[in-house]
Amino acid sequence: MRELLTKIEQATGLDRVGDRLQRAVQGTLRSQRVRDALHGVWLGHPLHPAMVQVPVGAWISAAVVDLLPGQRRAATALVGLGTVSALPAAAAGLNDWATLTRDQRRIGLVHAAANTVGLVLYAGSLAARLNGRHGLGRTLSYLGLSAAGGGAYLGGHLAYKQGAQASQSVSEMHLISDGWHQVGDLSSLPRNELVTKKIDDVSVILYRDGDDVSVMLERCPHQSGPLGEGTIEQIDGHACVVCPWHGSAFRLDGGEVVHGPSANDQVVLPSRVVSGRVEARLP
Ligand code: FES
Repeated sequence: MRELLTKIEQATGLDRVGDRLQRAVQGTLRSQRVRDALHGVWLGHPLHPAMVQVPVGAWISAAVVDLLPGQRRAATALVGLGTVSALPAAAAGLNDWATLTRDQRRIGLVHAAANTVGLVLYAGSLAARLNGRHGLGRTLSYLGLSAAGGGAYLGGHLAYKQGAQASQSVSEMHLISDGWHQVGDLSSLPRNELVTKKIDDVSVILYRDGDDVSVMLERCPHQSGPLGEGTIEQIDGHACVVCPWHGSAFRLDGGEVVHGPSANDQVVLPSRVVSGRVEARLP
């Protein structure tokens, strides 16, 4: 399986289809509000992994119920629930997929293809059951579950090995030692500008607003973009840093994500000023 996954990651032949699909997704989902909602910005967590629990749970439950006598209606209801709920989960997944790196998109494309096969088989199963052909419906369900299982395996690789939509900045926190760290003199910090410093070799950005200083990890949680090279924008009355790579925006005072594609907040370190020196520590 490892060899197969590596081959898919390196399969440049998938890029023609992937690039076209990416343009189609980006052309369809033009509204930032819709994209943010599907990424899970409002939740502070990627939405797609949470949404897939519904179809996966319903389909696995249907597979169990199908083994019991006299449960045809319950199995049909579960297959229907799984099939309908798979559609918004797929929309959230495609929205995330369109912002991934190429190697991630290749795995994601095969993940989506396997799940699409699963969805079509479950739709066929639902149609067969509603027409009274429960034997055929059961067979199509088990085939669909096999295809969706393959898709889930690839989704796990995408999330846990390739780190798609996982926070890329949180691991940096583990490189910072305990205790307060001096990061500069307050008097030398320009107001309302980003300044990049290091704490234990970890890059952080400082933002001074009056005598308050926010200290935030520099590495973007989405795909490690340099937030220190980003721009500052006022969004909903809050100063935010906008990532130069894909435009994720984070509040400078608290780190909350306000625009995706990141669905994760950025890490802000508690800070204080002691004798004119700015200090920060781990939360
Ligand atoms: S790296 Fe993608 S938004 Fe920052």
